[in-house]
Amino acid sequence: ELPDNGVIKCTSPSNIALVKYWGKRPIQLPENASISFTLETCKTITSLAYKRKETPSEDFDFELLFEGKPKPDFKPKIQSFFTRIETYLPFLKEYSFTIETSNTFPHSSGIASSASGMSALAYCLMQLERKINTSITEHELLQKTSFLARLGSGSACRSLEGPITVWGKHDAIGGSSDAFAVKFPHTIHDNFKEFQDTILLVDKGEKQVSSTVGHDLMHGHPFSAKRFEQATNNLSKLKEILGTGDLDAFIEVVESEALTLHAMMMTSLPYFILMKPNTLVVINKVWEYRKATGSKLCFTLDAGANVHLLYPNNEKDKVLSFITSELVAYCENGQYICDKIGLGAKLL
Ligand code: PMV
Repeated sequence: ELPDNGVIKCTSPSNIALVKYWGKRPIQLPENASISFTLETCKTITSLAYKRKETPSEDFDFELLFEGKPKPDFKPKIQSFFTRIETYLPFLKEYSFTIETSNTFPHSSGIASSASGMSALAYCLMQLERKINTSITEHELLQKTSFLARLGSGSACRSLEGPITVWGKHDAIGGSSDAFAVKFPHTIHDNFKEFQDTILLVDKGEKQVSSTVGHDLMHGHPFSAKRFEQATNNLSKLKEILGTGDLDAFIEVVESEALTLHAMMMTSLPYFILMKPNTLVVINKVWEYRKATGSKLCFTLDAGANVHLLYPNNEKDKVLSFITSELVAYCENGQYICDKIGLGAKLL
């Protein structure tokens, strides 16, 4: 029985990869398993209004509002998402939808909104699915939500649960799959409780390289096979580290992963440098600070110039004063975002 009309509203966060997903095969399946911290503050809020059509049409019928205004440039992305997921949600053409979405972080911040945005939309759609398919279990619901989010944007599948999720089949991670992400199913040491992520907005410009183009550059890349193998090994290491709470080992894996991601882009054809001079200044300052203080502060990077600073909660005051006194100067307009490890999507 299809409901006539209603509104579903949810929120879903961004996530930051510790072992990076970079390289995929059709359709949106990862070349290696990746693991991420789910974030708490950087999120998308989406409401999905659905209204049953009098007569189902051959087209998807949806309107899109971003921060209250029509957003035609997002439409093709949603259109192809709907096309891709229609076999899994056969009711899509029965409804006309109004999708209203907004982010808690500034739009032109260089922070990718695809993970939070696509996971939020998948979440809303699956809440509608749940009204139609009332026998679906919580577990199936969550799994299918991640599966659909993945088809929207790969890394989006890691945003639905927290505090840590894994996407991609990996021998050391029970229940892991290429098709959807799972909550990290092993012990997490208290050292990672309330782990902090302060995002320095070094460059707020549009991304130079779309992630689609970036992933494609791993096909025929001279180092791709080694890279996928290395990522697999790093995830095995990180699984142990998350259990033992060894923060020095954590730093080594996480920083190496960030630099390797950028090394892959520097060594592809065409090649790209996505860091900015201030990215390198910040990295060097983090290393100096660690050496001088014994802090466990480390950095990671996405496919851009912004720097994510990761550190244990018990260092919060000290690191924040280091950031404000030494690092804010290298952020565009002095902007940074204080985030931390979070728990994933929820219904509002
Ligand atoms: O989800 P995509 O296709 O935008 O790829 C994201 C890739 C990185 O953010 C660079 C790494 C990752 O694992 O999130």
